[in-house]
Amino acid sequence: MNCSGCHGVDAQGRVGPSLIQISDRRSQLHLIQQITSGQTPPMPKFQAQPQEMADLLSYLNKL
Ligand code: HEC
Repeated sequence: MNCSGCHGVDAQGRVGPSLIQISDRRSQLHLIQQITSGQTPPMPKFQAQPQEMADLLSYLNKL
């Protein structure tokens, strides 16, 4: 819901890059920093609870 506007409903990429097989290209730490830092505009920074972040990472790892 938060990500598909820019990364596409199937994670194929739109404004933001495709996230398919992202976990093969980026470390888990990099993904957490990417999601929480807001250092790559226009992607906003997201504040996720630990459980939400864990769920999000496990979703990204399946793409
Ligand atoms: C407003 C648009 C926008 C939204 C919303 C957004 N992103 Fe992004 N995202 C981007 C853009 C643009 C980039 C490329 C940034 C760069 O590298 O300069 C990016 C980059 C990324 C990357 C790094 C990709 C790579 O190849 O290194 C990841 C991972 C990512 N986004 C995940 C997410 C997740 C997960 C969400 C939802 C929680 C999200 N994004 C929401 C626009 C967005």
